[in-house]
Amino acid sequence: IEHFLGGGDAELNGFPHYMLKEIYEQPETLANAMRGRLDDSDSTAHFGGLNLTSQQLRQIDRVIMTACGTSYHAGMVGEYLFEELARIPVEVEYASELRYRNPPIDRSTVMFAITQSGETADTLAALRESKRMGHTTLAICNTVGSSIAREADGGVYLHAGPEIGVASTKAFTSQSCVLTMLALYLGRTRHLSSVQGQAIIDNLRQLPEKVRQTLGCHERVKGIAAKYAHVRNVLYLGRQYLYPAALEGALKLKEISYIHAEGYPAAEMKHGPIALVDADTPSVFLVPRGSVFDKVMSNMQEIKARGGPVIAVCSPDDEEVASIADDIIPIPDVPEYLQPIIAAIPLQLLAYEIALLRGCDVDKPRNLAKSVTVE
Ligand code: G6P
Repeated sequence: IEHFLGGGDAELNGFPHYMLKEIYEQPETLANAMRGRLDDSDSTAHFGGLNLTSQQLRQIDRVIMTACGTSYHAGMVGEYLFEELARIPVEVEYASELRYRNPPIDRSTVMFAITQSGETADTLAALRESKRMGHTTLAICNTVGSSIAREADGGVYLHAGPEIGVASTKAFTSQSCVLTMLALYLGRTRHLSSVQGQAIIDNLRQLPEKVRQTLGCHERVKGIAAKYAHVRNVLYLGRQYLYPAALEGALKLKEISYIHAEGYPAAEMKHGPIALVDADTPSVFLVPRGSVFDKVMSNMQEIKARGGPVIAVCSPDDEEVASIADDIIPIPDVPEYLQPIIAAIPLQLLAYEIALLRGCDVDKPRNLAKSVTVE
């Protein structure tokens, strides 16, 4: 990673766009997010900069996560992670809303501001408001020395290197990875056993290699992009951990291809989005094997029954999915809490390839900024 941190413009290293380069960096950026933080002797994670005593950490009984854009979606992944692995109630709030709300917060609540740039105006304002009220505020941030990194009481850096493409890719997977480690850490101060903690560590260690394998879907995704590059609407559907992943997939497509896309919890599509379904409105289903597999399959059948094309991101060799979907993108099996990271890869590539075919400027999409420093 050192050469990415060398100051000035990061190099394209032979990639046609920063976005593609950053997508391909993810095995490395995830390894960097974990470096030195996984502790086998205590089956937990460690962070240098949280600046909280173990007693303070033990007392956290509620978490508020605040962010904008892609970082907000990582916060939603964090909500599922913290609740499942650490049994801590979490609320995720858009920073632009939180800054003007006055939610009741007590002393045992910790606020996390999640931000790639560390400069997003709304996130900074939400952090300042929370600090003003005397709450502990922590940052999950990529940019070292940024405003949010400096003003937070403590935090965790992503160490993902500069992200140049306006559409965030590697920051999202690193944020999700850091949130997994934080959930492990908080879980281990509570009910998680050392055996459970160690299993999470072992799965995290395999993550960079699984992401590397996932990148092997690129050629297949190119073919799928060619088939659907002309459409005007796309639905992204997933449940549980893959609901925020669906939102993020839809955001990627919107940002860089200017196709209208909506992410929904798969079952919720019955309450509105299904009215959009026709032969020109594909649905991207996130349906790897897991606890809600059968439920998502029945949602998929409902879309098929209404003539909507289905692209399914699924487990390897899943004949059941293949027999219903029009196109499949197999991804490696991982535990459910890591599926958002793996599922992000084909969705990033799909948005990228469709945007290219439509002649869009993938690194600098119209009307968008890398860092939104105005309210
Ligand atoms: C902008 C960028 C997005 C990013 C969002 C939040 O909208 O275009 O890619 O997710 O800001 O940025 P942050 O730096 O706070 O994560």
